[in-house]
This record gives sequence, structure tokens and C-alpha cells, in this order.
Amino acid sequence: MDDTKRPTFGNRFLKDDAQVFLHNAWDNVEWTEEQESNARQITTAQAENSMPDEEQEKFLSEAPKFWDKFYEKHENKFFKDRHWLFTEFPELLLVKESKDNEELLCNDDTNDGELLSNNETTVGSFPGSDSKVKFMEIGCGVGNTIFPILKVNNENLFMYGCDYSQTAVDIVKNHKEFNPKSAFVFVHDISTEDEFPIPNESLDVVIMIFVLSALQFRKMGGAVKRIAKLLKPGGVILFRDYGRYDMAQLRFKHRRCISDNFYTRGDGTMVYFFTQGEVKEIFTSAGLMEEQNLVDRRLQVNRARQIKMYRVWVQAKYRK
Ligand SMILES: C[S@@+](CC[C@H](N)C(=O)[O-])C[C@H]1O[C@@H](n2cnc3c(N)ncnc32)[C@H](O)[C@@H]1O
Repeated sequence: MDDTKRPTFGNRFLKDDAQVFLHNAWDNVEWTEEQESNARQITTAQAENSMPDEEQEKFLSEAPKFWDKFYEKHENKFFKDRHWLFTEFPELLLVKESKDNEELLCNDDTNDGELLSNNETTVGSFPGSDSKVKFMEIGCGVGNTIFPILKVNNENLFMYGCDYSQTAVDIVKNHKEFNPKSAFVFVHDISTEDEFPIPNESLDVVIMIFVLSALQFRKMGGAVKRIAKLLKPGGVILFRDYGRYDMAQLRFKHRRCISDNFYTRGDGTMVYFFTQGEVKEIFTSAGLMEEQNLVDRRLQVNRARQIKMYRVWVQAKYRK
């Protein structure tokens, strides 16, 4: 099936439990009360047996180093290119004559020549300033999202990417498809108040895929507020991240939990698991309007080993 026509979240529903091992994955899976209650018990026990404060410190204070090590080890071979992007987020498809594109171009026009508040960079003096449409990926890693987006879009698009891992940014810049005429990637830690190298109100779309979850919960609100300033009026943030009680959360052993629903993986990178309500609160507190906020529950099946894996993701869209 043409990937751009695949219905959101897929459409294979499990109606008969006896058939569970007939396919690799089932969509939109309902959880039983017992399952929820087991998950709650597991996470409560994890929090009661959390990592001692003195051990937590190095993960919290040296977080970018752990991602540097991750990318030194895996380079660009760990995350797959995210082709589902265009199904879940058609906003990312900027086909030339499409209506969406006309709308984006209109939004861009409203900002032409404006002088920017609260930021020293002015329109015209930053990379990509001449391009009609500007997208940015926060936590771009090694470019598994940036490159597919650039590939399907036209010359009107300029793509920014930031990541706090210098190693990741270097890998993107050395990629054979990297072209400074259509992309600008830079090191930036969104949990800090450091200025972005682009002006406020310059972006049409911001992509946040599995990045906010790497921050401590108390730092998320400030980060999203600063990112929201970069959006043009009418611009949108596209968000997808780990959901509460995802299999990856329930698998954490004792002493990996740093604070409620926030953990350190074996490689030292950190991860938070969101509820829909938390996502709503973080983004609407930044003055954005909710357009989508969904829980994607998928049952993945290892047929050879007869193992069921319950995955949970939150997907959302917020507009300025
Ligand atoms: C799970 S990876 C996802 C990478 C990419 N978004 C993708 O979907 O392939 C999370 C990325 O976010 C980056 N990251 C985590 N915390 C960050 C922060 N505070 N500021 C900037 N980047 C951060 C990490 O270095 C890592 O590259």
C-alpha cells in the first residue's frame, strides 16, 4: 500500500485472542483493568526502589555525554528512517502545488521583514533565511527524520536540526546527503536558556520525536515555551513520544528509576513516559492550541518466541 495513504495508527485490530500470533503487530489494542493495575504496581515498586541520589547525579549533569557515547557506538545505524512520519504527520509533505504548501507560504509571508523581539538575530541574517518554508527538528540525532523530509520535499523547504550531542550533529554534517543549502544543524541543549541561532517566529513546523522524554519533567515546560517562541503564528509542533506503561517502562529493573516515570537506561541515556494529560498541560501552558492528542497502543508480537509486547506512544499536534 502507498505509505502516504496508510490510515493513521494502522488498521489491523485483534478481535479474537486466539489469533494473536498470526501477525507481527495489532493496532489500537484495548488494555484490561488487570493489565493497567499490574502496570501501576510495577511502576510504584520501581519508584519505591529508585536510584540513590549520589548515583543519579552523573546521569543528570552529564546527559549529553551519554548520547555522545551512544552515537559513537551506533553511528547512524540504530534508529531507522522514520517513514511513518508522513502518514502520521502529513504536514511534513510539502508537495509543490498542494494546498498545504500554499497555506505554509502564506504564513511565511506574514512574517517578512519583521524585526524580532527578544532575540538578537534579525530576519535575513541567519542560515536559510531566504527559504519560503522552514522546519526544525529538535533532538535530530543523526538525521533519520531530517533526511527523509528533505528527500520528499522541494527546494522551498529549509530544514534545521539541533541536538545536544556534538557527535550526532557531526554525523549529520558528514552524511552524504547533507547540503548546507537546504539544512543547518547545530548543537543546542533545549533544557538550557541558551539562545537559538534563528529568530523567533521563523518556523512553520517543529518536530519533537522521542526527545522531550530525555528531559527531567520539571524542565519540560520551560523548554517547550522557548521552542514555541520560534514558531510563526499558525505554525505547528508535531510531537510523538513514549506513553505511560509502555513495555520499555515496565521492563526497568529496580534502581534505574530517577523520579516518577523517569529512568536511566543501561547506556546512561534517560527517558520519561508521558500521559496524555501531561502532554496537554506542557504544550497548552506554552500558549499553544491542541489539535491532536492521542494514545497509540500497539501490540507487537514475536511470533517465533511467542512473546507479546504492549507498546504505548503519545502523539500530539499543537498550533500557535
Ligand atoms: C531517542 S533520540 C531520537 C532522535 C531523533 N529524534 C529520531 O527520532 O531519530 C533522542 C535525541 O534527543 C537528543 N536530546 C536529548 N535531550 C536533549 C536536549 N536537552 N537538547 C537537545 N537534544 C537532546 C539526544 O541527543 C538524541 O539524539
